[in-house]
Amino acid sequence: MPPTCQLYDEPVGHSENSEVLCRPERPGEEGAVRAVVADAFVDEPVVVDLVDALRSSPDWIDGLSFVAEKDGRLLAHILFSRALLDAPRRLVEVLVLGPVGVTRRCQRQGIGSALVRYGLEQVRQRPEPLVFLEGWPAYYPRFGFEPGGRHGFRRPSLRIPENGFPVLRLPSYEPWMTGTLVYSHVFWDLDCVGLRDPQ
Ligand SMILES: CC(C)(COP(=O)(O)OP(=O)(O)OC[C@H]1O[C@@H](n2cnc3c(N)ncnc32)[C@H](O)[C@@H]1OP(=O)(O)O)[C@@H](O)C(=O)NCCC(=O)NCCS
Repeated sequence: MPPTCQLYDEPVGHSENSEVLCRPERPGEEGAVRAVVADAFVDEPVVVDLVDALRSSPDWIDGLSFVAEKDGRLLAHILFSRALLDAPRRLVEVLVLGPVGVTRRCQRQGIGSALVRYGLEQVRQRPEPLVFLEGWPAYYPRFGFEPGGRHGFRRPSLRIPENGFPVLRLPSYEPWMTGTLVYSHVFWDLDCVGLRDPQ
């Protein structure tokens, strides 16, 4: 059975995995979150710097860093931060989901999916109408993400593959909200946008 990600203090407890709890990151957990991200992105150490830099940037939104915990240990982390959509009518504040990381020994057990579902439930009632991300085309449709180009959204860089630019429309979305995603400057400062030619 896949883990159910419960609100903290409301575990179900009917399978081993159901003890995984999803909740907002708490004050003082910065180091533990850093360790989760470092482990999940062992080949991309810049992702740890990305989380740190977002944390101290104006694009950090308190309460939108979420963790999965089991037996008092953090196993996974996801982060939503602020970005802009350059829509014809005006700039629109939107969310970017990323990074999404599960510690290596806990991957492929449904924990990442449970935490993403939990996080999306938390942002559903927020004013931002859209969640963008960069990610594997096969992973994100299960959460309701669709190809960004389908609804008139443009990638912030041509180095993001067209099929690696999913978007989720939230309840406050309106059809006039099209245009180009403008990332937080933090993603540019750390060169964390799209794929670089290894040559
Ligand atoms: C990607 C990640 C967040 C998924 O979380 P998870 O808890 O491992 O995944 P779940 O058990 O919820 O879902 C499993 C599905 O994830 C996808 N997936 C997981 N790891 C994958 C990988 N290395 N390559 C491709 N797909 C992968 C597959 O669709 C998989 O389904 P399958 O097991 O039936 O093939 C996690 O594996 C991770 O942290 N990876 C390293 C960091 C990373 O690359 N993050 C960015 C992803 S865009």
